[in-house]
Amino acid sequence: MPTRSELFDAYAMPDREATRVRMNFVSSADGAVTLGGRSGALGGGTDRALMQVLRAMADVVLVGAGTVRAEGYGDLRVGADDVAWRRSHGLEDQPALAVVSGGLHVDPDAPVFAEAVRRPVVVTTDAAAGGRGEAFEPVATVLPCGADAVDLGMMLDAFARRGWTQVLCEGGPRLFGALLADDLVDEVCVTIAPRFVGGDAGRIVQGVAEGDRRFALASVVTDDEGFAFLRYTAE
Ligand SMILES: NC(=O)c1ccc[n+]([C@@H]2O[C@H](COP(=O)([O-])OP(=O)(O)OC[C@H]3O[C@@H](n4cnc5c(N)ncnc54)[C@H](OP(=O)(O)O)[C@@H]3O)[C@@H](O)[C@H]2O)c1
Repeated sequence: MPTRSELFDAYAMPDREATRVRMNFVSSADGAVTLGGRSGALGGGTDRALMQVLRAMADVVLVGAGTVRAEGYGDLRVGADDVAWRRSHGLEDQPALAVVSGGLHVDPDAPVFAEAVRRPVVVTTDAAAGGRGEAFEPVATVLPCGADAVDLGMMLDAFARRGWTQVLCEGGPRLFGALLADDLVDEVCVTIAPRFVGGDAGRIVQGVAEGDRRFALASVVTDDEGFAFLRYTAE
């Protein structure tokens, strides 16, 4: 098993000044993004450890509303060792959390808000903010980025103004597709689980037109449960 410190080394960030969007996904070996409707069932011990390490390194964890709804996101707090790592790197104890929801179809009473250790940000449109935005006032900061559609470049600029340059996006597939469509993805971390699940599950990228988007394979880590942890960087 790779140790936590080996994972920190393998996934070290080259430069915290420039905005960097890092995706993290798990997929079965036959390309399924879920098993039984959830991604967690595909993962293993190292995958969970890696997720914590990537969260520890991030300024902000970014997630789409569909993933919040499907995965039941709650408390994303990193543990004491990770807090120590963050303090030693001049970071706040916990990463921020941002949820993208063009239509604000998220429940303000959901655990992702109720259990948050830092006040989350909800990225949406002017149109939705003017409608349901007020309902989030007690639990989150609504960040409109775009009139009728979320402008993800505008969102990243708004994050950078808050000092959030290192963005860890944990999905889902449609948010990944939208970021790819706008050429905003710098790095993709994919855990390949040693499972062939078949069924109807989608892939880790959805909602974007086919294209030959080439990334370089930057590193490969494996564990003794047969998982492969691939890291790709934009060319
Ligand atoms: N294997 C993995 O690592 C992994 C990771 C994450 C998720 N998943 C799975 O993926 C499935 C969810 O897929 P999904 O594609 O629906 O997830 P998603 O991308 O998290 O959610 C889509 C929703 O997020 C909002 N959204 C995403 N991109 C947006 C954009 N560019 N502009 C405005 N709003 C945007 C919209 O919310 P509103 O409808 O509120 O406007 C949209 O309906 C679940 O089954 C989950 O378990 C798997």
